[in-house]
Amino acid sequence: MRVLVTGAAGSLGRVVTVGLADRGHDVVGLDLVPAPEGTTSTWHEADCTDADAVAAVFAEERLDAVVHLAGVPEEASLPEELTSHVITTAALLDAMVTHRVQRLVYASSNHAVGRTPRAAGELTEHALPRPDTYYGVGKVAAEALLRLFVDRHGIDAVACRIGSFLEEPTTLRALSTWLSHDDGVRMVEAALTAPAPGFAVLYGISANTRAWWDLEPGRRLGYEPLDDAEQFADRIVARPEDEAEAEFVGGPYATPAFHRPALGD
Ligand SMILES: NC(=O)c1ccc[n+]([C@@H]2O[C@H](COP(=O)([O-])OP(=O)(O)OC[C@H]3O[C@@H](n4cnc5c(N)ncnc54)[C@H](O)[C@@H]3O)[C@@H](O)[C@H]2O)c1
Repeated sequence: MRVLVTGAAGSLGRVVTVGLADRGHDVVGLDLVPAPEGTTSTWHEADCTDADAVAAVFAEERLDAVVHLAGVPEEASLPEELTSHVITTAALLDAMVTHRVQRLVYASSNHAVGRTPRAAGELTEHALPRPDTYYGVGKVAAEALLRLFVDRHGIDAVACRIGSFLEEPTTLRALSTWLSHDDGVRMVEAALTAPAPGFAVLYGISANTRAWWDLEPGRRLGYEPLDDAEQFADRIVARPEDEAEAEFVGGPYATPAFHRPALGD
């Protein structure tokens, strides 16, 4: 499969591009910044918010699928979040329709449902949108845009609500939310290759003993995580903020420290 990976120079992007190439896929990287040293795949330096730049990449490459990882992975103002997550997704979707590219795998986030109280129990893929930040609002809106394009144009789009993509978990919360590097690649490959998913949501975490997200939606798409954060549990040092972070699914993002004006800087 020839796959465009956006945000290919980022923390997820670097791991995913190498992982997909190792599994026999032909990877085309795209990022705002030049290719990291040692990159062997084709590379485009482009801004996904620029529809013309995105269209030029699609005109040049013959693509089977897109893995959209480009975007600012933290809280900012509402306009910045909408630009970074919704406008970039829109530019890619328009180009996919024009060039008949069927599949998009999207790096959504647990923060799309982050304001859900942990007391609500395990979250399924049917959890209603409940963002904890403008970042989470951006992810919810991007998922809605995917759904619209699936319904209108019959493309396939898998929104992966990723937890904490880290080499290893370093906080109590991450024992629940951790997504290992290897499982991250397994997740993306399953989302790329599952037969005709239409619009689907999965939770992007490893098979963590303390998980509070349902792994079944991912398993139905062929994502079988193999790692478990529990192996690191005895290295985690408790912190005073752990209790406040345990109240909502989104952890620190759901605490008052993140309250700010929607249009502020
Ligand atoms: N890392 C996590 O634990 C995590 C959890 C949930 C969701 N996500 C999502 O996964 C995606 C990747 O996250 P990450 O941690 O790798 O972030 P990162 O900041 O390490 O990488 C993002 C990459 O995207 C590029 N980029 C940003 N805006 C761009 C644009 N407009 N056009 C082209 N390239 C652009 C950046 O240059 C960077 O290389 C993000 O959408 C993030 O919201 C990450």
